[in-house]
Amino acid sequence: MRSTEFARRRRQLMRMIGRDAIAILPTNHEQVRNRDVYYPFRPDSDFYYLTGFSEPEAVAVLMPGRPQGEYLLFCRERDPEREQWDGRRAGLEGAVADYGADDAFPIDDLDDILPGLLEGRERVYYAMGTSSDFDQRVSGWLKQLRERSRAGVGVPTEFIALDHYLHDMRLYKSRSEIAVMRRAAKISAAAHRQLMKTCRPGLPEYRLAAEFAYQCAQRGATELAYPSIVGGGDNGCILHYVENADPLNDGDLVLIDAGCELECYASDITRTFPVNGRFSEPQRQLYQLVLDAQLAAIDKVRPGNHWGDPHRAAIRVLTRGLIRLGLLKGSLAQNLKKESYRKFYMHRTGHWLGLDVHDVGDYKVDGHWRVLEPGMVLTVEPGLYIPRGMKGVAKKWQGIGIRIEDDVLVTRDGPDVLSRDAPKTIDEIEALMA
Ligand code: GLY
Ligand code: MN
Ligand code: MN
Repeated sequence: MRSTEFARRRRQLMRMIGRDAIAILPTNHEQVRNRDVYYPFRPDSDFYYLTGFSEPEAVAVLMPGRPQGEYLLFCRERDPEREQWDGRRAGLEGAVADYGADDAFPIDDLDDILPGLLEGRERVYYAMGTSSDFDQRVSGWLKQLRERSRAGVGVPTEFIALDHYLHDMRLYKSRSEIAVMRRAAKISAAAHRQLMKTCRPGLPEYRLAAEFAYQCAQRGATELAYPSIVGGGDNGCILHYVENADPLNDGDLVLIDAGCELECYASDITRTFPVNGRFSEPQRQLYQLVLDAQLAAIDKVRPGNHWGDPHRAAIRVLTRGLIRLGLLKGSLAQNLKKESYRKFYMHRTGHWLGLDVHDVGDYKVDGHWRVLEPGMVLTVEPGLYIPRGMKGVAKKWQGIGIRIEDDVLVTRDGPDVLSRDAPKTIDEIEALMA
């Protein structure tokens, strides 16, 4: 993504918060995995959205209208010795030259400089309650200022949740965000395709998880958006199954929920297919039902429809089908009223997608489901889960877990399925695996 994109976002946010305001955004901390080994570092999504800066130990400060500079970046200084051990740093020079900061300061000077920056600003925009450590530092700076207020120092009087503004911006994807998300979805879709070709009875689930990561990395996406779920047979009924430790059995389905991350943007795709390449009759019936529900839901992803519409369409199709197959008794209306589908389908049909896999943005506005608008990206992911031993259900349906998940962009012309390259019809899947 170009630096002009990040600059545009900062300008937009600064226009919203107005002069006399200051916005403060820290990034994530490095997290210990064990002793002196750290988890791979991933910047905070809000911070990254505005800065494009992916080093740890950094804080961005926006001060609209400040003559000496509106965008300040606190970060690590260059240090040849540390860089020899831990990797390159942008340093203060890089923060200005490469990341568009008007001025940059050492992160170690944050406590000395921030109180002075708050002085005379009326409103502080900050995501209070996200990090208690950083909350305390902000409180400390304000306390210092108040102690000097008798000397005529101006202390901010309003504290506003920055996340609310920022998350609404993040919900509407720009052209360059859509381009990255489309690439991420294409890479993941190609990897899912490859898994269908690789799969055979006897392989362990982790073999497919490894293959997915490999296929994505081969295509330039070296990070995953979340831990891959590879569940064979009954394991497919566990929604967040990540052990991926069992062998894949002949005659079972395998459910794979996996997506790469590209430039910090997530993709999130689920495909379910037969381990041996051929659907059994009960698998075929349930699979086609989930697919019909998914297609009906995707068709509702149109500007002017509500957030709840795809889910409603999906549960209607699922409920009707479950009655037809004898898994539910009674009329469609009765069953919809009782929400009896929930025995087999206990999650919602999707979520916003973006820098975070479960992306930010309100789902309701003033108590009503949000109206879909062009530029929003969401997942559509109905499923059916019938674990072994489920009471009152014929044996032939048991041990089947199915989810089909795509990433869908709302456009003026209707749904644009970013992940469409991952096969999902029964014929496509069986042909590819033959
Ligand atoms: N992969 C997480 C989800 O589908 O929501
Ligand atoms: Mn999802
Ligand atoms: Mn998923």
